[in-house]
Amino acid sequence: MKIGDSYNAWADSYDSMKNKTRDLEGKVLRQTFLNPHYGNILELGCGTGKNTGWLSEKADFVTALDISPKMIEIARKKITAENVTFTEADLQVDWPVKPGWANLITCSLVIEHIKDLDFIFAEAARALKRNGKFYICELHPGKQYAGSRAKFETEEGVHNPEAYVHHISDYLNAAKHNKFSLLDLNEYFDDREKENIPRLISLVFESGI
Ligand SMILES: C[S@@+](CC[C@H](N)C(=O)[O-])C[C@H]1O[C@@H](n2cnc3c(N)ncnc32)[C@H](O)[C@@H]1O
Repeated sequence: MKIGDSYNAWADSYDSMKNKTRDLEGKVLRQTFLNPHYGNILELGCGTGKNTGWLSEKADFVTALDISPKMIEIARKKITAENVTFTEADLQVDWPVKPGWANLITCSLVIEHIKDLDFIFAEAARALKRNGKFYICELHPGKQYAGSRAKFETEEGVHNPEAYVHHISDYLNAAKHNKFSLLDLNEYFDDREKENIPRLISLVFESGI
């Protein structure tokens, strides 16, 4: 199944199913961006809008992109803020965003589904203003090595949307190749169980070194 079709099938249950990864990432984003204002925000893979409404309160404008029309349809019903534009787009081809438009790009739980990290960083470099920030938060590679990946259930059974393992060095090398510097790297655990594999990794980069 193509990734857009997988998320179209997941859309109706995405918000209501139990999902520790989804919920923890929402907390991570909110504790990472503590400033009151971030100018123009580009949200990659907005899904059902878990973070979009919150981002809209910190932005002049939010452009929220996603490949799944069903995920966007749910987000549109929930988020009525006038400074948000939802657009259906595949992040694996040129993004519908003007060069230098964004002050901040956020990307929550999307990169797992993207094979070519370098293309994402190249487009982020194009879409950001100089010294713009690029936030990524993903299922931790350690979890991926242990077999975890996005999954959901329908009446037909368990589905695993297409997923790729990205090592920490892959993120850092793609960033360096596209002239980003690393500002912050953090790991997040379930219930502070630090002896276990972290659930999430977050990285914040700055463009234009
Ligand atoms: C796990 S959901 C995360 C949604 C939201 N960011 C969140 O944290 O709840 C992944 C989202 O990425 C989107 N996505 C996956 N691959 C994509 C691609 N190539 N282009 C655009 N969106 C994509 C999916 O449609 C889905 O909405």
